[in-house]
Amino acid sequence: MSGPLLLSVESSCDETGIALIEDGRRIHANVVASQVALHGPTGGIVPEVAARAHLRWIVPVLDEALATAAVTMRDVDAVAVTCGPGLAGSLLVGINFAKTLAWAHGKPLVPVNHLEGHVYAGWLLDPGEAEREEPQFPLVALVVSGGHTFLVEMRDHLTYRLLGTTVDDAAGEAFDKVGRLLGLGYPGGPAISVAAERATARNRVFPRAWLGDSYDMSFSGLKTAARRIVAQARADEGLPADERDGSLSDMAIAELAWGFQDAVVDVLATKTIRAAEEVNARGIVLGGGVAANAALRGRIARDAGARGIAMVIPRPGLCTDNGAMIGAAGARRFAAGVRAGLDLDARPSLPLAR
Ligand code: KG4
Ligand code: ZN
Repeated sequence: MSGPLLLSVESSCDETGIALIEDGRRIHANVVASQVALHGPTGGIVPEVAARAHLRWIVPVLDEALATAAVTMRDVDAVAVTCGPGLAGSLLVGINFAKTLAWAHGKPLVPVNHLEGHVYAGWLLDPGEAEREEPQFPLVALVVSGGHTFLVEMRDHLTYRLLGTTVDDAAGEAFDKVGRLLGLGYPGGPAISVAAERATARNRVFPRAWLGDSYDMSFSGLKTAARRIVAQARADEGLPADERDGSLSDMAIAELAWGFQDAVVDVLATKTIRAAEEVNARGIVLGGGVAANAALRGRIARDAGARGIAMVIPRPGLCTDNGAMIGAAGARRFAAGVRAGLDLDARPSLPLAR
């Protein structure tokens, strides 16, 4: 081991994740029990159902993580846990579990901000992956998930200057909503991305909310426009208004998915690149579930590459919620001396940067 081994726990939303991370970078185990299938029938997350599923899975997830890494609690130097933001009931399951582990085994407890975790996923190395340079400061990080969309500047570890944030819905929420409108099920993001790939005519234009020169973003107008555009497409195909009463043709779905995705990607990529140029960033880090989107990854990688800015996008499984990212951020906090007591509480609205 070249640095401390952290056991990290993530349960803020609908994934139960536990990881073992060495020195804030190297993944020894990263086990995620996803609730996607559980929430599919309700088309979204029911908080009580999510909390109960965390309770059901957290012990098996711990057992599998320790077995995969071939370690015991004796080998662990600290326990890191997401304390917010997220769903209160879900957060409390992970927090109480982490507290119990830390107390029973006499390990320090390190509180981690979930959003900080998404940023620090950019530092992670998979087991067996070749060493690569860490992201270099100053950098700009774009975190886009189902609950959050923001752009921050980092000039050093654990310091964030908020450049912009969504003024209404998160980008992932818009993907999920439009996915439902198109009859693609939950979650909408991956399904829209797959459908968009199939579009042959790529000329649908959905509105972009630029909000002037600001780095803030807005997706609620796009959601409303999508509802209108989908309704028109349904009328054009002679379908009833309710999406449950018959589905648009595959090609119409693909073209609408492409047009919607193009609008979201255009706004996110344009603002991120402009921010990176303004702060003379050496790197851009992408995180959050929507960073798994191939069109967004491709566009930002191309635009950053053309400007000589290094681009770090974790593989899709590290962009969506997981325990490893909490271990990466937790290691920095652990090194900085941050500790929590057994009175650690859930902070459902914890911000990243003030
Ligand atoms: O980070 P995450 O797993 O959970 C939150 O903290 O919210 O993000 C989930 C969000 C969902 O809205 C989902 O639709 C979106 O990420 N997402 C995607 C893709 N994969 C997941 N959005 C667009 N394209 C994708 N490939
Ligand atoms: Zn997340």
